[in-house]
Amino acid sequence: MRQFLDLKDKHPDGILLFRCGDFYEVFFEDAVIAARALDLTLTSRDKGKPDAVPMCGVPYHAIRGYIAKLTELGHKVVIAEQTEDPKQAKGLVRREVVRIVTPGIVLDDDVLEPKRARYVMAIVPGAKDSGMVGVAHLDATTGELASTVLTAPTLIDELMRVAPREVIVAPEFLGDSVKAQQLATVRTRSRVPWNAAPVPDEAGARRELGALVVVESPAALANRDLAIRAAAAVVAYARSTQPTGTLPIARLQLYQPGDSVVLDEAAIANLELVETLIGRHKQGSLLDVIDATATAPGGRLLRRWMLYPLIDVEKIRRRQDAVAWLVERPALLETIRRSLSRSADLERLAGKATLGVATPRDLGRLREALNQLPELIALVASGRDNKLAELPALLDLAACADAALPTIAARLGAALVDECPALLKDGGVIRAGYDPAVDECRRLADGGKDEILAIELREQKASGIANLKVRYNRVFGYYIEITKSQLQKVPASYVRKQTVATGERYVTSELAELERRVLTAEETLAAREAELFRAEVTAVADVAREVSAAGAALAILDACASLAEVAARRGYCRPTVDDGFALEITDGRHPVIEAMLPAGTFVPNDCRLDPDAEQLVLITGPNMAGKSTYMRQVAQIVLLAQIGSFVPAKAATIGICDRVFTRVGAADNLSRGDSTFMVEMRETASILSTSTRRSLVILDEVGRGTSTFDGVSIAWAVAEYLHDSIGARTLFATHYHELVSLADSRPRVRNVSVAVREHKGEIVFLRRVVAGGANKSYGIDVARLAGLPKSVIARSRTIMSQLETGSHAVGLGTSPQLTLLPSAEPSPLRSRLLGIDVERTTPLEALALLAELKTLV
Ligand SMILES: Nc1ncnc2c1ncn2[C@@H]1O[C@H](COP(=O)(O)OP(=O)(O)OP(=O)(O)O)[C@@H](O)[C@H]1O
Ligand SMILES: [Mg+2]
Repeated sequence: MRQFLDLKDKHPDGILLFRCGDFYEVFFEDAVIAARALDLTLTSRDKGKPDAVPMCGVPYHAIRGYIAKLTELGHKVVIAEQTEDPKQAKGLVRREVVRIVTPGIVLDDDVLEPKRARYVMAIVPGAKDSGMVGVAHLDATTGELASTVLTAPTLIDELMRVAPREVIVAPEFLGDSVKAQQLATVRTRSRVPWNAAPVPDEAGARRELGALVVVESPAALANRDLAIRAAAAVVAYARSTQPTGTLPIARLQLYQPGDSVVLDEAAIANLELVETLIGRHKQGSLLDVIDATATAPGGRLLRRWMLYPLIDVEKIRRRQDAVAWLVERPALLETIRRSLSRSADLERLAGKATLGVATPRDLGRLREALNQLPELIALVASGRDNKLAELPALLDLAACADAALPTIAARLGAALVDECPALLKDGGVIRAGYDPAVDECRRLADGGKDEILAIELREQKASGIANLKVRYNRVFGYYIEITKSQLQKVPASYVRKQTVATGERYVTSELAELERRVLTAEETLAAREAELFRAEVTAVADVAREVSAAGAALAILDACASLAEVAARRGYCRPTVDDGFALEITDGRHPVIEAMLPAGTFVPNDCRLDPDAEQLVLITGPNMAGKSTYMRQVAQIVLLAQIGSFVPAKAATIGICDRVFTRVGAADNLSRGDSTFMVEMRETASILSTSTRRSLVILDEVGRGTSTFDGVSIAWAVAEYLHDSIGARTLFATHYHELVSLADSRPRVRNVSVAVREHKGEIVFLRRVVAGGANKSYGIDVARLAGLPKSVIARSRTIMSQLETGSHAVGLGTSPQLTLLPSAEPSPLRSRLLGIDVERTTPLEALALLAELKTLV
């Protein structure tokens, strides 16, 4: 218990799993939490006594599943192993913490998602009132480390984009302190566990990062120190979880929001870049449509590309060149993808070797993958139509040709068996003939037949007893049996053990020694295999950088091949990307909806936006016509173009966008404690304050969430502001047909509408975007299509026609209880008027009446 409490003292914030023989035991409060989380029986130590300690236990072989469950629930799990052999221990067996598994730092393949990095993020607010925040994220499995500085309000956007599984902050930012309040809303919206970790100062940060290569952001980073401290905090935290292993971090990438297209939380969510709005599934997202990657690192890279679209035309063209080159060589593309699908996750395997957690199977896979590299290099090279033609820069596999790779592959080939077992403890890892000690142990473990035969032959010769036999039984172990007739030739060194009917049995010191070796052979074998295997792991760790660089090169090839495959399969075109401002799409399609509909049924549409001419396109049209689809499709096409992908269109010219904003639909944010309208207005405010002439702004029914007059007024003013003050390319869908007249007063506003046709009283959706505004909403027709009861539809039509003719006392005739305006109290004027009998009134009386009536008004 003492030992437990000591360890617990050092790790107060994790659930301590304490190894005791075949079990991991959990005590005290940890036991209560674990028992509840894992559905285990809670018992207690020293049952019945007043100071009984609650405890529960899990068998060691099932531990992975339990750890996975606890971390998925957001817990930190501290694993204390016995670090000396219980047989040799004097007194208490030594136990040490060998690993800490946290929600963000997991090394178990069963828990990791192959095509997703698993990030832990450090958030370090800058000096008071600076409004700046250092943010770093690390994937401990590959060592990917990046860091930046943001303004506080954009923190949530980056958090959504990186989607870490765990956030760490200095302790004072947790709990109820004043400092904690600063980050409280971000924390509740992040939906992941936040844990405390120390944040080093600048000097400490430099020490922590040591010799790490720092890759600077293209534009110098203001407040760079804050980014460095955040990186150091996340590295220190990760290191503290691996007391026995080294993290595979080689580089710190500094970046800043302006290096790529700025996407806020709303844009990432509304455009469904990596997951759907409802349900948050990858399936149905834009990434899902373009992800035909054959490898896990390729999948991770493509996801990154999707979330960080480029703004540098040169870089975009380089990706396009690679994709185009592959599209032009369909047969080669197919072969490359097939070859890639047999490859392995080199980045994670290199990481596991560095961390010292690689299994024999891991190294076996690594060897296979390394051996396959020459084939891939040759494949790509074979696509060069003549020797002088250059390969697209991104498809250069030079990193895969590093001399260190075949060397390590050959080493693994020599040392490890062909079919590597899953785990080291399964044995049979080292190849026969590689190590004499292993070979001998194996022979011995198998009964030492060769040794016995050798001894037998030698003793036969030496003694001249031709029928001398070496035998074995349970009681004596190895012995020499000599028949009665030969007893006189027995050498003096033999020690007699037993007399049997046919002769005598002897042992020799040599046999005793052999026996000892046979009996310990398995243990010696296991230890020797482990030793040799660890040497292989270390050898791989020594070239981890080269291995992971090769992995990175393959990831790029795979991501490009994926884009090429999708482009070919779905008939995408290569867009012209330039530094201009015009956006011109011919026959564009919505990549996701197109993929869901039967081939050829999606109706393509053009789009033209240009800050100098058609800057703000106002889209009107009936419900269900396709307004939202059209606007999203434009935004998705722009983003696809800027990640270097081909796009679903016949032709496209994309003048680079620096930011893409969306205000789409009425996404409910009740969970955040804000009303729909509040969120809508906040997003709109952020668009108006941060968009530029280079931005693309998508506004879908702004103002819908409030009364009609308020809504129209807000929508109108927002549109004017975008036109007059910002000049951003804007698509603006609205049901407020009043806005159509904006085009009369504003030169760069264009009206388009999505066409429908009425056919025998039915509404037919044409899905075509045509010039000019719409004047009818067909809301009731759509409601009827949706199955609203006939009586409700009929009543809607009545109310609408009365509203349209300006008659406010709707429905008075048919159902008085439904009047919209309460009938007024009879006014004195009215009573007086009704009381006049015109027939009997003289002209003079009429004049007097008129004067009287005037007083009543
Ligand atoms: N170009 C198209 N080709 C084929 N189907 C389309 C097309 N555009 C839209 N659709 C289909 O029509 C449905 C409705 O489209 P969308 O949501 O864009 O309409 P909307 O005009 O925004 O309606 P509302 O005014 O009610 O928001 C889509 O879910 C899609 O299935
Ligand atoms: Mg819509």
